[in-house]
Amino acid sequence: MKKNLKFYLKKALENHFALGAFNFSNLESLQAIVAASLQTNSPAIISVSESALNYMGESFVISLAQAAKEQNPALFLHLDHGKSFEICKKAVDLGFDSVMIDGSALPFEENVCLTKKVADYAHKKGVLVEGELGQIKGIEDNIDIAKSSYTNPEQAAEFVKQTKVDMLAVAIGTSHGVNKFVKTPSLRLDILQQIENILPQTPLVLHGASTVDEKLVETFNNFGGKLDKAQGVSEELLIKAIKEHNIAKINTDSDIRLAFSSEIRKVLSENKKEFDPRKYLGKGREKTEQILSFKMKNVFFCADKK
Ligand code: G3H
Ligand code: 13P
Ligand code: ZN
Repeated sequence: MKKNLKFYLKKALENHFALGAFNFSNLESLQAIVAASLQTNSPAIISVSESALNYMGESFVISLAQAAKEQNPALFLHLDHGKSFEICKKAVDLGFDSVMIDGSALPFEENVCLTKKVADYAHKKGVLVEGELGQIKGIEDNIDIAKSSYTNPEQAAEFVKQTKVDMLAVAIGTSHGVNKFVKTPSLRLDILQQIENILPQTPLVLHGASTVDEKLVETFNNFGGKLDKAQGVSEELLIKAIKEHNIAKINTDSDIRLAFSSEIRKVLSENKKEFDPRKYLGKGREKTEQILSFKMKNVFFCADKK
């Protein structure tokens, strides 16, 4: 079988490891992902959000992804949180390997309709599709996590049946950003279990899965930053979600931003005369690579799965 994204998602599901889906928004963050994937011999997904696509520009994204794939052919370009048919179509036409259509804010029937439209178009061109059901919210939206709308397992089964998505993002208590929990980190693994009981063959996706390393937050704050009450998902919970459940793709953005920015703050504070971007961006890149290599080996277990 061709070693495409479908192959790796199936392999991840069957062998209980997760593909990391790592967001990049500049050359150095992509280089860090590539280097970590090579160092650990991992397959990985390189993700761009709509805003990252606008920030870098389409042709830069495509050229950068092509250069990354030349170094590691087990890297796959993914559109993260596409909000419309048009942006997903654009990504498909540009040659992305997969797209996420995020209709999670819509009523169920409208989410089904939009997701199915994207899947019908993408599948004709051999591009995989991720849909989302339930809302991945958090305290940054001033919404109590206890009241957040988790994925409904029966609706999930109906959603996958009608849309034919290749992967499903589930809402089980994670949220985007660095302020994920008010008190103790917890996930609704019971809901995850119910979803996979009904959909045993569907690779499930965990968004908002950064661990928000407290040492990185400390560095960030010690060198002039101010991140209050930062808290991520614990490594133990992520490992459980991968090893004991069907989470086969894990999205990580905040940890990359935090590694990169905390290191840059440190280097610039300690070297007041430094004005060569290569010196501080290079250090940010090194720190990010370290953090990602650790994750690939010890949390996602995708090392040596190429
Ligand atoms: O899930 C969202 C990602 O963290 C991307 O965020 O739109 O700021 O690039 P962004
Ligand atoms: P984090 O903010 O936890 O890194 O989540 C990123 C994400 O879900 C991208 O889709
Ligand atoms: Zn997300």
